[in-house]
Amino acid sequence: MYQDLFMQESIRKVEAARQANMKLDPRRMTAEEKDVLLKTYHPDYREEQFVNLSFGPNAGQKVPGELAALLQGRSRILGREIDLEHPDYDTDVLIVGGGGAGASAAIEADENGARVMIVTKLRIGDANTMMAEGGIQAADKPGDSPAQHFLDAYGGGHFAAQKDLLYKLVTEAPEAIRWLSELGVEFDKAPDGTMITTHGGGTSRKRMHAAKDYSGAEIMRTLRDEVLNRGIPVVDFTSAIELIKDENGRCAGAVLMNMETKELLVARAKTVILATGGAGRLHYQGFPTSNHYGATADGLVLAYRAGARLLYPDTLQYHPTGAAFPAQIYGALVTEKVRSVGAMLVNANGEVFMNPLETRDVSAAAIIRECSDRGNGVPTPEGQAVWLDTPMIELKHGAGTIEKRIPAMMRMFAKHGIDIRREPILVYPTLHYQNGGLKITDDGQTDIENLYAAGEVVGGIHGRNRLMGNSLLDIIVFGRNAGRHASEKAKQTEPGRLTLAHVDAFEKQRAEAGITDGTVSPRLLPDYTRKK
Ligand code: FUM
Repeated sequence: MYQDLFMQESIRKVEAARQANMKLDPRRMTAEEKDVLLKTYHPDYREEQFVNLSFGPNAGQKVPGELAALLQGRSRILGREIDLEHPDYDTDVLIVGGGGAGASAAIEADENGARVMIVTKLRIGDANTMMAEGGIQAADKPGDSPAQHFLDAYGGGHFAAQKDLLYKLVTEAPEAIRWLSELGVEFDKAPDGTMITTHGGGTSRKRMHAAKDYSGAEIMRTLRDEVLNRGIPVVDFTSAIELIKDENGRCAGAVLMNMETKELLVARAKTVILATGGAGRLHYQGFPTSNHYGATADGLVLAYRAGARLLYPDTLQYHPTGAAFPAQIYGALVTEKVRSVGAMLVNANGEVFMNPLETRDVSAAAIIRECSDRGNGVPTPEGQAVWLDTPMIELKHGAGTIEKRIPAMMRMFAKHGIDIRREPILVYPTLHYQNGGLKITDDGQTDIENLYAAGEVVGGIHGRNRLMGNSLLDIIVFGRNAGRHASEKAKQTEPGRLTLAHVDAFEKQRAEAGITDGTVSPRLLPDYTRKK
């Protein structure tokens, strides 16, 4: 498969250095070294890629240019007739988004006796949860503790996490694993029935629980079955394009759009939970992405227009190991578990250039440095890359380890003629996660009364960088939390007269700010039409 002569020559160097490299235990970078590395090479520090918002709840703060255009964009409902008096749907808790957070919220709200409805622009399970690979963290083994988990995540997130949210995440993690297991998730276990756990970047204990390297698919499969078995209504191929408030300023539903016919519908609800996921398909700075097709920041746009603040919207996660070759899988996730089970990152000369389990932002920046200023990258049709030396895994742990522990990786590359047991693979950072998002309280409520949020649309749980395995955890802990609180709040709520006045007010602010570009938002789906 590696027909390119430079690649072949480079592979020979990787092979020649392999045995010696396997004996290395590269030191971790100091805090000062990381700081300089990040500021010089991490995409979050390319100031020219950001703009300051002109108006709205985060006026004056910087966000990626692509996101600013959407946050300050024109509503899709301008000029459309919308009958708020006769809603098409009426429910207690409306959940926007059919991924892991939305499904967890729905299950919990249903359990609490609420009438629940999920609306999703694709199908239930078409979400980043389904694509998550490496695992879910929980400190549930001897020698570990939620306090230790907190310290790892707090440091890894540059001490910027909202402490109350992070506390909730780590203390409720063991219960999240129990809940998932009882619902039917098949985590990897040793013959005696104990959970197999591994390290991830930045973890001081082995606390990553996994279902091989398709942990997210296993979790989403189970949650989806539970939602459907409970008979929770799911309206698919229907997106929320605007939130609705009541005359008292509380969130009270959403304007929906049928993705095929473009028909507009009204859903009235006592409370709303946004679980719309991330933004990888905005391809910030032209990066490829590991995200699913619908990850276009819609929830941020709807809530911002309705008056909710964002936290850390300027920080994104570039997963260090996106597939860089062949082109057909460019940007697809190569799980961090590949490094957890023993593969090291090496440059075109076969040299190890970092500890394989540095945190993600540091690892991504180190790869970018290797491929840019240091000139040690391997040229590919899409740019540059470094090697992830997968054959090391079986040399360390024995034949059959790859098939057993990371079978999805083996299959993904085998489809393209690469046997990762024998050949290294080429990787480069890929846009993976939105660290920032909606600001919430620890009951999951945004700045707007009766509007809750859970999952990747939320900012602040992880600070300015998230550790592996803490997002599968976050969708469960905060999804359930939002479902519980929103259903409880629904019991005390009767929406007043519905209104979309905030959309008109936003449009006015837009005009006053002198924004004239024609961007319409939310985006809903990525635009891959070829630009002339
Ligand atoms: O590398 C991974 O498997 C990704 C995990 C995560 O983002 O938590």
